[in-house]
Amino acid sequence: MIFEHLRAGGCQSYLVGCAESCAAVLIDPEISLIDRYQAVAAREGLRIRHLVDTHTHADHFSATREVARRLEVPISMHRLSPAPFVDLRLDDGEMLVVGNLRLQVLHTPGHTQDSMCLRVEDRVFTGDTLLMGATGRTDLPTGNPEALYDSLFNRLLQLDPNLKVHPAHEYKGRDHSTIGQEIANNPRLQVRDRAAFVEMMNSLNLSMPTHLTEALRTNMSGGKTVAQMLAEAAATVPFMSLAELKARTEAGGDELIILDVREREAYEAGHIPGAKLLPRGQLELRVNQDLPDPLRRIVACCEFGRISTLATATLREMGYLRAVALDGGMKAWREAGYPLLCGQA
Ligand SMILES: [Fe+2]
Repeated sequence: MIFEHLRAGGCQSYLVGCAESCAAVLIDPEISLIDRYQAVAAREGLRIRHLVDTHTHADHFSATREVARRLEVPISMHRLSPAPFVDLRLDDGEMLVVGNLRLQVLHTPGHTQDSMCLRVEDRVFTGDTLLMGATGRTDLPTGNPEALYDSLFNRLLQLDPNLKVHPAHEYKGRDHSTIGQEIANNPRLQVRDRAAFVEMMNSLNLSMPTHLTEALRTNMSGGKTVAQMLAEAAATVPFMSLAELKARTEAGGDELIILDVREREAYEAGHIPGAKLLPRGQLELRVNQDLPDPLRRIVACCEFGRISTLATATLREMGYLRAVALDGGMKAWREAGYPLLCGQA
């Protein structure tokens, strides 16, 4: 078995490959590491054949959908997953076969109702059912402390104590533990009475994950995150630096249309001299009237450099092939002390 552990902050993902066939499964991939997964698989001589999410993640963005699109490989989740794009809906007692490896599915609801653990050879991928020194929380959608109690004490902790535990989250940089070590040392597992365990889980009072709604929206639907929308737009447009634009405005001439895509109020409070106002929300409506010449060179700007990237991508899609985005926004322009004009367009 070839085993690679990849970390994105506290999010842990695992690339598990069959040494004979070179087929691999990627478990709990996270969106920021997509290129790394492919690179590590290539370095190890592995071909990713399966993608698995151990459950519906509420605190980070799953990469299964995007990796599946790139590699044309199936996505596996527990059958109770609400995501419509799951190809293989696994159930308790089933196995995912990856080359000569057999990953055994244990349905372990509690953190979410679609949580599962995957056991292969000498290790078990516990998702957020069991963490090192903790358990998954049960206060997010479909969480259930009673179910978690059963999943832990009556399923997972009954496994071979020597099995290595690889959770979906780990915030202290530890590599792994074992079932036996967790039974002995995990503070939450010392609460062995069902009612006391449920009471403990119900009174944890944890703060909500930062990107809860966006993570659930994208992980449950396969939709894109805002960061993905921006990254995709940024890959399709050239950029111009603040200093380059400043130099060009100071040199004069009308070669360049500076297109300020913020709202009128922001524009009037201070814009680049010579900039033309065309709010992003009106771009498609006013483009024919305001930008009649598709061959003109256009540099779009906004407050932070993000909306202008989206606007530039739209402009290029509409045929303005010399549209570029400002690398940075008006905030950076002001902070650099570059010239500003106030007042109406
Ligand atoms: Fe989770």
